[in-house]
Amino acid sequence: MPSEPTRRVALLTGGTGGLAHATAELFAADGMTVVIADLDPVRAHKVAESLPGSGHRGIGMDVSDEASVRSAFDGVERDLGPVGVLGCFAGLLSTGAVPGRVLLTDLSLHEWEGVNAVNARGTFLCIREMARRRAAVPVAHGRIITIASLAGQQGGLAAGAAYSASKGAVLALTKVCARELASQAITVNAIAPGPIDTQMLRSTVPAERAGEKYEHVQGIPLGRVGLPREIAAAVAWLASVDAGYITGATIDVNGGLYMR
Ligand SMILES: NC(=O)c1ccc[n+]([C@@H]2O[C@H](COP(=O)([O-])OP(=O)(O)OC[C@H]3O[C@@H](n4cnc5c(N)ncnc54)[C@H](O)[C@@H]3O)[C@@H](O)[C@H]2O)c1
Repeated sequence: MPSEPTRRVALLTGGTGGLAHATAELFAADGMTVVIADLDPVRAHKVAESLPGSGHRGIGMDVSDEASVRSAFDGVERDLGPVGVLGCFAGLLSTGAVPGRVLLTDLSLHEWEGVNAVNARGTFLCIREMARRRAAVPVAHGRIITIASLAGQQGGLAAGAAYSASKGAVLALTKVCARELASQAITVNAIAPGPIDTQMLRSTVPAERAGEKYEHVQGIPLGRVGLPREIAAAVAWLASVDAGYITGATIDVNGGLYMR
């Protein structure tokens, strides 16, 4: 029988990034113990320390590296107990010499591999690690939330093939994992954000127009970019006990850019 923990432990990859940080604040305010996992352990520690409540943890973790993922989970579970909520936020956008779409014909294999290693492989490695551990030590209300993208649904407005395909992989992986982990009562759902005001989005604006947040706002029915807390709210709801009958879903948070 899964144990009902006194405090749920939530691990957020890419935890110092804009969307994960906003989610961490909601999780912490909701009484969870939050683990901020990112490439830079010092930054991760600072973000963890800034969260409401106590007992949060900042750790170094490279989601693209199998050994790093395993040892991060080892340390967290030894010190804090089983991870019950996993948020896969770590992500990388294609980087051209200038901001903007990297055309297929200009896309190097190195770029393709690098972006997919973080977005697709990283999401797989983290979910697999959690699934293996929860098979051995079950928890009540297990939740996995992946962060895909509108780019994975529509081919990318400014993101090119590597990023868009990696996010398509995240969407398919989410459904596969939802089927396989249902028997463990772990739900697995994806958020597909449209443009949201974080460092990642700002990096797509050319330097001469820095300060303008995003150039395609006029195409968004709600007429603005989204706020990190609007993604965080959707993640927090998927992580809640009441969302226990939702699995394999993709929640669009995109200002109406994509309707289906
Ligand atoms: N901001 C948007 O408009 C938008 C839209 C759609 C999807 N997303 C997705 O949301 C997620 C969060 O992005 P964000 O907007 O907060 O961007 P961000 O750049 O602020 O955060 C991304 C974080 O991922 C971390 N990261 C990168 N490689 C890593 C690795 N190998 N291991 C561990 N961490 C790594 C970075 O250090 C960074 O903290 C990403 O997956 C992104 O693709 C963002």
